[in-house]
Amino acid sequence: MEDRYVVAGNPVEHSQSPFIHAAFAAQTGQALRYERLLVPLDGFADAIRALAAGGAKGCNITTPFKGQAFHLAARAAPRAALAEAANVLRFDADGWLADNTDGAGLVADIERNADVGLAGRRVLLVGAGGAGAGALGPLLAARPAELVVANRTAASAEALVRRHAAAAHGAELRAAPLDACGSGYDVVVNATAASLQGADVPVSPRVLAPGALALDMMYGPAARGFLDWAARHGARGRDGLGMLVEQAAAAFELWRGMRPETAPVLAALRARLDGAR
Ligand code: ATR
Repeated sequence: MEDRYVVAGNPVEHSQSPFIHAAFAAQTGQALRYERLLVPLDGFADAIRALAAGGAKGCNITTPFKGQAFHLAARAAPRAALAEAANVLRFDADGWLADNTDGAGLVADIERNADVGLAGRRVLLVGAGGAGAGALGPLLAARPAELVVANRTAASAEALVRRHAAAAHGAELRAAPLDACGSGYDVVVNATAASLQGADVPVSPRVLAPGALALDMMYGPAARGFLDWAARHGARGRDGLGMLVEQAAAAFELWRGMRPETAPVLAALRARLDGAR
């Protein structure tokens, strides 16, 4: 029988992960089934225990359960421990493993797909919620010269920065308020949920160096305002679709021990979403 995986979340109906993992499975000849699992907001642990007891091999976790997923597992990869959040669980016989491939997916998309090296660059991470937390460790591991975390709630950015002090790899790492977070960054990553609430991009366009890469972790309509903002101010806008495919590839590798090709899957996913507009 084919191995079973799910993406667990609430909401989960718009997740593109089933499409991505079906494409990876076809490409690598792996026999697996990957489905969406809508989990009640107050029932995450029970739902995941039932899933594992039913024979599933692992799952992805999406909003709002990444923190709970991390705490549920017996073991955690160092990057998940730094983020205190997991987007992947693997149900091993000797205990569950939690990992977080979001940040690695982001870095792979920036460096490989967008062809922007992070080493020595000035990077602004906007947002210190779950998405920002997952990104910070891998961004630092790519050795930027400077990394500033800007957030509406100062305490969250400060806590995130403190937690990563020992993982800064020599980068100048600090927290800053949204309205005073500096200017002229080479790479700006939007990890806020501001657009979901209809709010404007929460930082000044001065944060963008000419030709900067401006990446929003969102995709589809939720990313449109940010991409327009980037284009208006001379930056190279990029949505979160590449990050989504790259984090999935890293999860697939964790589960199946082989790394799929991401470029054709990203192209197919983009065509599929453009066609659905
Ligand atoms: P996620 O898992 O998507 O990161 P989250 O943990 O709820 O979700 O974090 C949401 C992020 O978006 C936070 O950084 C939040 O800022 P606060 O820490 O101050 O809440 C940010 N955010 C949400 N709405 C925002 C808005 N209107 N303007 C600026 N930042 C916003």
